Formats: sequence, structure tokens, C-alpha cells
Amino acid sequence: MKGRRENLKPCSRKRPPNRLNATKDIMNLQVVKTPTLPDAQSVTSVTHWTDTLFSFRVTRPQSLRFRSGEFVMIGLLKDDGKPLLRAYSIASPSWDEELEFYSIKVPDGPLTSRLQKIKKGDEIILRPKPVGTLVLDALLPGKRLWMICTGTGVAPFASLLRDPETYEAYDQVILAHTCRMKAELAYGAELTAALPNDPLIGELVGDKLHYYPTTTREPSQNEGRITDHIRSGQVFETLGLPQWTPTEDRVMICGSIALNKDIMALCEAQGLTEGANSKPAEFVVEKAFVD
Ligand code: A2P
Repeated sequence: MKGRRENLKPCSRKRPPNRLNATKDIMNLQVVKTPTLPDAQSVTSVTHWTDTLFSFRVTRPQSLRFRSGEFVMIGLLKDDGKPLLRAYSIASPSWDEELEFYSIKVPDGPLTSRLQKIKKGDEIILRPKPVGTLVLDALLPGKRLWMICTGTGVAPFASLLRDPETYEAYDQVILAHTCRMKAELAYGAELTAALPNDPLIGELVGDKLHYYPTTTREPSQNEGRITDHIRSGQVFETLGLPQWTPTEDRVMICGSIALNKDIMALCEAQGLTEGANSKPAEFVVEKAFVD
């Protein structure tokens, strides 16, 4: 690692080194070396979206290959020198040269209370072993891909929404994001608004992408929980799309345990079955990261 070597500072020598001093020099070199985390990656930018939400980008290990929608373990060192790691969905697409993450800030959360203070140039730990079920491979071919999330559950979809393969595989892609307040929708709103004009994939996105934000604790264009909008049919009516069918619709779910359970029940009521990497089917589910 280039950065690591640059952190090695030569120790000052007053006398020409003899054999004994040379040994001391080596020891000094180890002492003055700036501590570097295991599996360290450098932060390249940080964006604070609200008092409780932020995103950040880090360098990508050259060897890291992942599928859009997967997650990795990231974290920081605790005071006792042991790593404190949590699962975080990679929010950037698989082709991106950096990695992006989207996180809540929990004031007394063991990790996010500290992670929210990171700045450009800081280091985080990143274990380069991507896994996850919110991947295109875990779904059978279909016409429409629904992405349903609450809060930071939008992160894996931010990855998939920026992947050309998503639009190659589906005629329509729908991001339905429920948050308490309008401000909490900003990350997903900005991303979806920019995608049709994106110089790399804008043409592919075209008019395939639909964005359906809802808020539950502040008035907005679509008020209420997404679950209720599905039950009432409001989301289908507003978007001009048909009710889910096992032949045409695929659903990816990422939110709290309660949201996941409720959407899974709605999927199953329409005849959709749960898929996995080893056995693709009509819907897949993953719990959003919570500190
Ligand atoms: P609500 O305000 O009605 O609880 P949280 O901030 O608690 O993680 O919730 C994020 C968003 O997810 C909130 O808008 C919340 O709505 C919504 N939500 C929580 N549980 C469910 C559920 N079972 N079905 C649909 N939406 C849910």
C-alpha cells in the first residue's frame, strides 16, 4: 500500500549507526509508523444529508469484485484495538472505482456514533468479502423489478439503480422508499432524479425508472406506509402499473424486520415465492443495517 509506506518516517540519528544502533533504528521505525487499520480503505468524501443520515465514499480494494446489491462488513477499531464491524450494503454499482455507503447516525450507537465523524483522508476497515441476496441473479427473469425499502434500506438499491444490467433485464424498475420525513428521502430522490440524464447509463434508464416516495410523519405527495399503498392499490394506480403477478413481477425488499415481514406476506398473497442465490424465484429480502 502506497499510503502505508509514506507513513514510515525515518528516525533521527545523531551518531553514525553501529550494529546496535541499527537495531534500535529498526525498532524506532516501527514505533513512529502511523497506525494503519487492518483491511484499511481511505475515505474520499462524506455527505451529510440530515442530522441522522450521511453517505461516504472510500477507496476500493483492487481485488474486490462484487455484484450490485451485495453488502460487506465495515467498521473502525475500538479503544481496545479490536475491530467493531457492521454489515453495510454497498450503495455504489459494481463498476464504480470507489465504494459508497449510506448510513444512519445513532447518537449512542457503538459504530455510527463514531463513524458519522469520519472525514476525507480518514481510514475505515473494510473486509472484502461481499455477500447478499438482493442481487439480480437471485430472481427469475421478469418484466418489472420493484425495489421496496424504508430508511437506509435504499442503499443496495442505489447500487442496482446505477447498474446497466438492471435496465437490460427489466422493462420497468420501481423504487418505492418510505421514510418518516421528507428530508430523509433526499438521497434516493436525488439519485433517481439524476439517473435519466446520467452520461453513462441515462439512455438505458430512459423512461423505465419510476420513483415512489412516501412519508409517514410529514405530509407529502404520497402519505402513509408503502404497505398500505400496495394493499389499497394506490401505488399501482398512481404509476399506471398492474398488480403483482408471479409471471411478470419481481420484488426486492430491504427495511426493518416489520416492513420485510409485511411485504413478504403481500408478495406471497400474490403468488410470488422467495428466491435465493442458489434458487432464483420471484422476490428476495434483506434486513437493512441498524446500529
Ligand atoms: P411509521 O412512521 O408509520 O412507523 P423507522 O424510522 O422506525 O425505521 O421507520 C422508517 C419508516 O418505515 C417509517 O416511515 C415507518 O413508518 C416505516 N415502517 C416501519 N414499519 C413498517 C412496516 N411494517 N410497513 C411499512 N412501513 C413501515
